Amino acid sequence: MNEVLEKIRAEAIARIDAARDMSSLNDIRVAILGKKGELTSVMKSLRDLPPEERPSFGKNVNIVRDEISQRLDSMKAELAKKAREVQLANETIDVTLPPKKMTYGHRHPNNIALGEVERIFTGMGYEVVEGPEVEFDYYNFEALNIPANHPAKDEQDTFYITKDMLLRTQTSGVQVHTMEHQPLPIRMIAPGRVFRADELDATHSPNFHQVEGLVVDRNVTFADLKGTLEVFAKKLFGEDTRVKFRPHHFPFTEPSAEMDVTCFKCGGKGCRMCKGEGWIEILGCGMVHPHVLEMCSIDPNEYQGFAFGVGLERIAMLKYEIDDMHLLYENDVRFLKQF
Ligand code: DAH
Repeated sequence: MNEVLEKIRAEAIARIDAARDMSSLNDIRVAILGKKGELTSVMKSLRDLPPEERPSFGKNVNIVRDEISQRLDSMKAELAKKAREVQLANETIDVTLPPKKMTYGHRHPNNIALGEVERIFTGMGYEVVEGPEVEFDYYNFEALNIPANHPAKDEQDTFYITKDMLLRTQTSGVQVHTMEHQPLPIRMIAPGRVFRADELDATHSPNFHQVEGLVVDRNVTFADLKGTLEVFAKKLFGEDTRVKFRPHHFPFTEPSAEMDVTCFKCGGKGCRMCKGEGWIEILGCGMVHPHVLEMCSIDPNEYQGFAFGVGLERIAMLKYEIDDMHLLYENDVRFLKQF
């Protein structure tokens, strides 16, 4: 074989074998087999040869071209394979690595406490009802024996919407809705959101929750109220809990009382939880005022009722020993997860 051809062949093979990537391999192809490539120019020199040498020279050029061409192809395949291997190695998934932790939400302490309250009362045959958060002045005040100019209206800083519509300041209005619409006897609790123009601090919020309770039937007495609420307190805070009723005043009940429970932390000895008192106030209650029954077309001579109102946040804070109300409204999952 012609020396020039042999040199081109040997150099080409060496360069191909040394190629490390597709683009340099492509440069080699262009430099040798391209229009202005080495082998192409050698082919062009064919016409300078004596005619008898041309066929064998032409044949040799073709052999060399085929060989280089094949070498380029096989190198290309090899480089592609290597590139794929590198890619696969980089994309390897280590199935033994620990997975990303899924974070779950958590039930709010208010909700857990409400679940308990509902369980206790439905267990005693109570129905759970709901009332509107946007309420008429009539249901929030008037029908509960709190007429215009009544001092109790000032005590509860009300968010008014119009002159006679407001955001309810208490769930007690649901008593009136229920007495207007439900057949007697009534045994219901009504949990819900209430609103007061208070600043948020450790023990107040402009928006909190109450659970109202109402029983209306024949021969209902204060003894029924006491017995029912004592059972409630024991189920909620433990069988050793004792209760105490202190006279109080609510316009819509007569007589009225506040109920205290023995501190479940110290059992009544006095501690930080009960501020040394041994007792903790948990709800307001009383016998439904005859006038309130009358306004709902119920004859107080035939029917009597008792009612109570519990602050849900207060229950949750006592039960779960939460000392700052802010925590109940921030919904930090790290806090919520503790209950
Ligand atoms: N509505 C009262 C309040 O917001 C709580 C209350 C007291 C409700 C006595 C009652 C009750 O049903 O009988 O302070």
